[in-house]
Amino acid sequence: MTVTETPAAAGSVPAPTPSPEVARRAFPPGFAYGAATAAYQIEGASAEDGRTPSIWDTFSHTPGKVVGGDTGDIAVDHYHRFREDVRMMADLGLTSYRFSLAWPRIQPTGRGPAVERGLDFYRALCDELLAHGITPVATLYHWDLPQELESAGGWPSRETAFRFAEYAGLAAEALGDRVSTWTTLNEPWCSAFLGYGSGVHAPGRTNPADALKAAHHLNLGHGLAVGALRSALPAGSRIAVSLNLHAVRPLSRHPDDLEAARRIEAVGNRIFTGPMFEGEYPADLIADTSHLVDWSELVHDGDLAEIGRPIDLLGLNYYNPTVVSSADNAKDLPRHDGHGDSSHSPWPGAEDVAFHLANEDVTAMGWPIDPTGLSDSLTSLYRKHGLPLLVTENGAAFEDVVSADGSVHDPERIRYIEGHLGAIADAIEAGADVRGYYLWSLMDNFEWAYGYEKRFGMVHVDYDTLVRTPKSSAHWYSQVIRRGGLA
Ligand code: FCB
Repeated sequence: MTVTETPAAAGSVPAPTPSPEVARRAFPPGFAYGAATAAYQIEGASAEDGRTPSIWDTFSHTPGKVVGGDTGDIAVDHYHRFREDVRMMADLGLTSYRFSLAWPRIQPTGRGPAVERGLDFYRALCDELLAHGITPVATLYHWDLPQELESAGGWPSRETAFRFAEYAGLAAEALGDRVSTWTTLNEPWCSAFLGYGSGVHAPGRTNPADALKAAHHLNLGHGLAVGALRSALPAGSRIAVSLNLHAVRPLSRHPDDLEAARRIEAVGNRIFTGPMFEGEYPADLIADTSHLVDWSELVHDGDLAEIGRPIDLLGLNYYNPTVVSSADNAKDLPRHDGHGDSSHSPWPGAEDVAFHLANEDVTAMGWPIDPTGLSDSLTSLYRKHGLPLLVTENGAAFEDVVSADGSVHDPERIRYIEGHLGAIADAIEAGADVRGYYLWSLMDNFEWAYGYEKRFGMVHVDYDTLVRTPKSSAHWYSQVIRRGGLA
């Protein structure tokens, strides 16, 4: 491909006018252009082929927990329509697809042997992806804990970590010939602190000590699962974790605001990156929360070695920056942490911190749009941990409107994605090793406590007919992929 140039006027700088096929900002060869989904949000078929309820089935069927009483019973029926969905991905030119395995489909009670019918679904999905040249990336846990394990104590119980590792081994044995990139947990911060702290996510419990215990057992489950995956997977397979590390910014340089930022970084980020990459829980986190849990009792000998098992890639899920101040410095300012309404805080040890909008340019979730949080996070993560990075989620909900001709024009989503792909290009230019981008989401789906009210897809789904229609953002992304970068 050549760059065509218009003849320059005498004395002026020649202005290259790239052909539409030429990327002004190209991504490195082999960069993964993906989209992401999660089992409970898309599959439906909630009682088929041996699947039993997860905590999200129980939660969504509890009145008042999900907007509109929506559930994932049918979701977008991907379980029955996956071939059509893979064809659509191929038509769009995706090179990779990140999906999650439903634990209650593979090991319904959270114990014992795997259910072949459950595995067969994922075997068929992977075969379809591979036949279309799309690299599968499997997430083991995207929040759908088998209800039986929750009834036995859930993530605050240490036993759940061992159950998770067993399930990880079963999944790897069955699918390791097809899937070479795995991520253990998706956003364990949400599982622990929205699930057991603020209660806005399943299982809806509201106990700060349980939330901290859940965080440790999720970390332990991750480490044990890394061990199980390594033993079951062929050499050369790659293991990751997907963390929603908050891009924390103090509202001012006032010492109280810096202290607020430190506390949120501790319980929002370093509670995971500390034991995973630095071999210990941060001392300041322990000090902030020691009135809630006895860490010396919670963390057993040998746990840190398990949690710190080396992984190959770090997955970052990024949506918006997190601006914080001390409560005293927040007078008359709106408060917003983007994680739903609850009278119980999801921030144990940091309950007095106030959250602010980074700016007024927000998505339909009310999340501020600021791609610099992504470039900052990628560059600092790479500097700190030296691991190759994947952006395993990034995207936006908007109030999409279906035109009379059935098309959906979503210029705001295009602007959002373009800004964030640009931020990735910036981070790569600054030296970060970023290997891929997974747009959240492939298609509209069950957005947890918001039900079907919030649409994140680049493909529109009509919830009456389940017809899929690529929005203009999908066509735009497809061009980026074919061009190998941004125009
Ligand atoms: C992330 C979740 C994902 C989706 C997006 C919008 O926190 O991992 O399932 O809900 O937010």
